[in-house]
Amino acid sequence: MASPYWDEKQAERYRAFRFELAERTLAGRVLAVAGGSGGLGAATVWLLAREGARLVVGYRANRARAEALRRAVAEQFGQTLSLVEGDISLPAVRRAFLDAAVALGGPLAAAVILAGEPARVKWEALDAAALESSLRANYVAPILLAKELGSAMEQSSAGGSIVLLASMQAVAAFESSLNYAAPKAALAQAARILARQWKRVRVNVVAPGATVAGMAEPSVSAGKYDPHIASGAIARFGRPEDIARAVRFFLEPDNYTTGQVLVVDGGLTLRR
Ligand SMILES: NC(=O)c1ccc[n+]([C@@H]2O[C@H](COP(=O)([O-])OP(=O)(O)OC[C@H]3O[C@@H](n4cnc5c(N)ncnc54)[C@H](OP(=O)(O)O)[C@@H]3O)[C@@H](O)[C@H]2O)c1
Repeated sequence: MASPYWDEKQAERYRAFRFELAERTLAGRVLAVAGGSGGLGAATVWLLAREGARLVVGYRANRARAEALRRAVAEQFGQTLSLVEGDISLPAVRRAFLDAAVALGGPLAAAVILAGEPARVKWEALDAAALESSLRANYVAPILLAKELGSAMEQSSAGGSIVLLASMQAVAAFESSLNYAAPKAALAQAARILARQWKRVRVNVVAPGATVAGMAEPSVSAGKYDPHIASGAIARFGRPEDIARAVRFFLEPDNYTTGQVLVVDGGLTLRR
């Protein structure tokens, strides 16, 4: 007996090499990008704006950088970013993302959550306050935002997609990375649990490697990751565009992936 889920007309199309590969699937959709003014976020915003998405872009305090990105996107693509200022650990700031999406004509179709902190603390200074501070910035606040935006998308018939930013350090053990990497590992596990819990909202994680923009710039430019190029483990450092493309993959409305962690590190964790 044939499967009740089988679509014979679709199978016939594929036998005739007629495939459905829609382009610019994000055009006109309302997307939120928390931490969108940062090194990796700005490239993501740039790519999504080029695709024609309508964007709510969040930042914590650096208004000058967010305004500069807004001007650059307006000049390049004729699009106005809707900016949300403030710390996403505050309920009112998280609420502002949903309000801004509604003001753009919503519903919110997807959210990218890049907000995070390098949480660099010397071993001798690693105390409860340092651990809790990183946990709040790299786990509690992003997960609360994912919970609230995801719950709203789950209630909408169109569903949605959430992408969280972890790090290669969340999946491989690097020396001195405890304070930053452990909350990022928790974030990745929380994403899998949310992906299982929600039926209409896909949740995935992008885990960047050593990337030349954003919070890794000081350590990459100082040579911390040079040995991995010298040894041939990676051919080059990561670029913000590498991350933007990985994020876009998960955001596409017809994407078939959920609960996954995509490590975008050029092979560093595999070959080091
Ligand atoms: N760059 C890398 O190589 C790399 C590697 C691995 C993982 N990652 C991860 O990728 C994500 C983006 O990193 P990035 O390099 O683009 O960082 P970044 O340049 O430091 O930018 C961080 C962005 O998040 C915002 N932000 C930070 N904390 C926030 C908070 N509590 N509430 C609201 N907004 C907040 C910042 O706003 P303000 O500027 O106004 O503070 C900024 O827009 C992070 O989660 C990071 O851990 C980055």
